[in-house]
Amino acid sequence: MKKTKEKPVVHQMMHADTASVESNNKRQAWKPLFHFIRQVKMPWILIAVCVVLNLAQGYLTLLFPSYTEQIYAGNFSKALAITATVIVLGKALLTAAIQGVCTITANITQMRFQEHIWRRLSRLPLSFYDKNEPRDLISRTTEDTTTLSEFFSHGISSLLSTIYTLIGSFVLILAYDWRLAASMLITIPLIYAIAIISGRFYFKMNNQVQAKLSNMTRYFASVLPYITLTKFFGQENREEQNGLDWIAKHFKTSFDNAKIGLVLTFAQTVVQVIFQLVIILMGVWLVRDGSIDIGIWIAFYMYANTLYSSFSSLSSQWQSLKRNQGCAARITQVTDTPIEENNGTMDASGVEGDLAFRNVTFAYGEQNVLNDVSFTVPSGKVTAVVGPSGAGKSTILNLVERFYTPNEGSVALNGQDIKEYELRSWRRNIGYIPQNCQLFSGTIRDNIAYAVPGQVSDEAVTEAARLADALEFIQSFEKGFDTEVGENGAKLSGGQRQRIAIARALLMDSKLLILDEATSNLDAESEAAIEATLKKVSQRCTVLMVAHRMDTVRDADRIVVMENTRVNAVGTHEELAASCELYRKMIGQQAVDATV
Ligand SMILES: Nc1ncnc2c1ncn2[C@@H]1O[C@H](COP(=O)(O)OP(=O)(O)O)[C@@H](O)[C@H]1O
Ligand SMILES: [Mg+2]
Repeated sequence: MKKTKEKPVVHQMMHADTASVESNNKRQAWKPLFHFIRQVKMPWILIAVCVVLNLAQGYLTLLFPSYTEQIYAGNFSKALAITATVIVLGKALLTAAIQGVCTITANITQMRFQEHIWRRLSRLPLSFYDKNEPRDLISRTTEDTTTLSEFFSHGISSLLSTIYTLIGSFVLILAYDWRLAASMLITIPLIYAIAIISGRFYFKMNNQVQAKLSNMTRYFASVLPYITLTKFFGQENREEQNGLDWIAKHFKTSFDNAKIGLVLTFAQTVVQVIFQLVIILMGVWLVRDGSIDIGIWIAFYMYANTLYSSFSSLSSQWQSLKRNQGCAARITQVTDTPIEENNGTMDASGVEGDLAFRNVTFAYGEQNVLNDVSFTVPSGKVTAVVGPSGAGKSTILNLVERFYTPNEGSVALNGQDIKEYELRSWRRNIGYIPQNCQLFSGTIRDNIAYAVPGQVSDEAVTEAARLADALEFIQSFEKGFDTEVGENGAKLSGGQRQRIAIARALLMDSKLLILDEATSNLDAESEAAIEATLKKVSQRCTVLMVAHRMDTVRDADRIVVMENTRVNAVGTHEELAASCELYRKMIGQQAVDATV
């Protein structure tokens, strides 16, 4: 089976100059598949068993007609009857065995694939997740691995067995009479052509319908979780219409394709009829001629049909191979992305000292988000970063967490570049309270104890909750700490989520606490309580906080004013109020905001 044969002639002539590029691409298409399976521990023995079983079944398929022929030739011996029975029984048993072994093989292969992908997914850098949608990654781990594991169990083995029966039946026909073989050679190109054309079409059609279907799903998934927004703004009519449009588009594609599919099915039927006619007419001619007897004709009839079905299924198997190249390419995009760099070896636990940004320049993409940023977070003090939104405040915290690496300059703790610390040891020693405080679905206790699983007493959890001013509302729940928070904490209010996130960070008892607008969702009373807590904990750790409200900042030991990727000024509240134009504007703004 040559790959180039698949290409329609016209296409080849029109694009002669691009042919070499395409064949190169084709070779490229195989690479990810091979590359991927080299990374995974494949159940090769089971796969080999699948292949052997399938070939055995192909062998029996080829064997059977020759016995039928002997029966027609008048051989009614007991031995023949037994052999024929054994063949029929053997084929049936093999079908069951293939089904069983291939399914087991597919299950094991899929598990290995999924394990391999998941190991990567849980350790890839954040920059990877910036570029890839979770939904897409989930489908790679579930759907693509299903398709690919099917290929390595049923796919490969049936492909090989198809090729085997194809060649076998042709050779056997040739052995009977060359004219029978010749008649096959005339009709086969017709079957081949129609199988290739329809195979390609079904492949394209399937892709189009899938694309429309996934667009539709994406649309539904983007609207339903935010249905409150739609209702707030009374946009139900618009969303209803949008949804109906997507449904109509999906239907139109499926329907158009069904129409063309009908034409193709008709063409396939015509070819099949021609094929059957050729077999019958050849048979009539040669039997009358006395060249073959009726038994041979029956055997020929059976082989010809095997040949026909092998040819038809070869095309769809080939398309499925292509689909698997696609799956492998998508999967290797995940598995070939380098995991987070972790060359550091130093243990970070309990390390204290000043945290310093030294001439840090950083860009997520093309544009610099931090430009030559230098400042120090003194050990055991509270340092606040303020500035307009988009100034780069959260980015500073991202670099401290080592979610990203600076393009230029470095971040150092106690004079030591932070990348010298072992990554997980480093992160475990930072209490991080993120801007949009994510929670896992699970109980309140699970969430607070997340950073120190299994090592924490109920008293410690309660104490952390108390420090975070969360104890009161937790205890007001019927189930207390065992209350389920819902997906991403959906069953809690914004302020409650925030206080749980704070408790979670406080429980770690780390030497460095970083907060990103951690009190933005809190009412004045809770905020005051948290501030008191922060003051207390800052006696035993260093605090770096991005602050939203200027009154939270006032008491900080040091304030870093960020403006448009750069450090504008550093100082205490009094110093900045006296000297920094931007800072004065910011306190002014806040005062105006507060009176509204
Ligand atoms: N993951 C990201 N990928 C690309 N750009 C980002 C990413 N996160 C933030 N940015 C951009 O970086 C700039 C600074 O963002 P950020 O540090 O979050 O600002 P803020 O001071 O409001 O916390 C913004 O222009 C933002 O659009
Ligand atoms: Mg921010």
